[in-house]
Amino acid sequence: MTTPPPAKTILRALAGEALQTPPIWMMRQAGRYLPEYRATRAQAGDFLSLCYNPELAAEVTLQPIRRYGFDAAILFADILLVPQALGSDLWFVTGEGPRLSTITNQAGVDALRPADAIHDTLSPIYETVRILSRELPPETTLIGFAGAPWTVATYMIAGRGTRDQGLAHQMRLEAPEAFDALIARITEATIDYLSMQIEAGAEVVKIFDSWAGSLPDDAFQRYAVAPARQIIAALKARHPGIPVIAFPREAGQGYIGFAKATGADCVALDNSVSPEWAATHVQCDGCVQGNLASGHMVTGGQALIDETRRIVRAFRKGPHIFNLGHGITPDADPDNVALMIETVRNCK
Ligand code: CP3
Repeated sequence: MTTPPPAKTILRALAGEALQTPPIWMMRQAGRYLPEYRATRAQAGDFLSLCYNPELAAEVTLQPIRRYGFDAAILFADILLVPQALGSDLWFVTGEGPRLSTITNQAGVDALRPADAIHDTLSPIYETVRILSRELPPETTLIGFAGAPWTVATYMIAGRGTRDQGLAHQMRLEAPEAFDALIARITEATIDYLSMQIEAGAEVVKIFDSWAGSLPDDAFQRYAVAPARQIIAALKARHPGIPVIAFPREAGQGYIGFAKATGADCVALDNSVSPEWAATHVQCDGCVQGNLASGHMVTGGQALIDETRRIVRAFRKGPHIFNLGHGITPDADPDNVALMIETVRNCK
């Protein structure tokens, strides 16, 4: 009998194993801080053309793996492709960010396409996943992703990123039925979208709830916890054993019990919580991911080394995937990424 190869490190951590050296990847690891990304993006024309070009999207996904040897690759796409597939207009304004047509009432929700009509638009993304599952090194885990319904809804309602998600809160309070219908439509589409990514070869999926932190208690339960639970239950029913990472960013106390309440295998932490606090209150339930402040990728030096070691040591007794607390920014120095990886892998 031949011994099976050792499981990939990220899958071991997600299954609950405490590893001496945590596996590592980085949010937005394919991005503008890398000259090779900027070159491929220029070749594609613009950001959305890059997302919908499977060969080039696979190429930018692979670039940080070649350069740094991360333990995971994250599919190159965007959370706003789902609203686009549901019928919202989507475009990106250089230097400013995304713009979408807005939804403010039931008529706007009714005008969206049904959830099962998203695949016409999104099929190039599944092709990117298929290319990656062929081309990634055997030790590298492929992560698929989608936005969480609340975060995606904030963009569909306001038509852009907003500091306080005010318009989405207004709709949730003043037009709760239409708002719930929108959340339900996004939830359904997200289940189908992630399911197709898994069928195409994604080995883990991550749900990004970037604006979860602005939901007050009851609303956090209803619009962050409940949709995540629904998505995770449906995915695990269709794909038994598929590991799921949930990222309720800036949830604060809401991180406590989030894994149990949603069925997530791992909770990703932003850097507003300390690793020592999170080791006690969140990692007690299973794997955590995080949480170096992305500013260290700009500033580097001894502070980067000290903070990286602090995080590795704080989480060492339990399952942990090293990552940033949020995406790396375009002004980051690629050498600081190498320094972070070296520090994680040599940390005693
Ligand atoms: O992490 C990865 O490398 C995978 C790819 C990925 C992107 N966006 C590529 C991207 C992922 C996982 C996302 C998630 C995403 N997109 C989120 C959730 C995570 C978070 O950052 O909070 C959100 C809110 C979005 C929506 C979005 N996309 C915004 C607000 C912007 C503009 C901000 C910016 O950085 O310019 C984007 C654009 C975007 N998505 C870029 C990348 C690499 C930059 C586009 C470019 O090349 O010009």
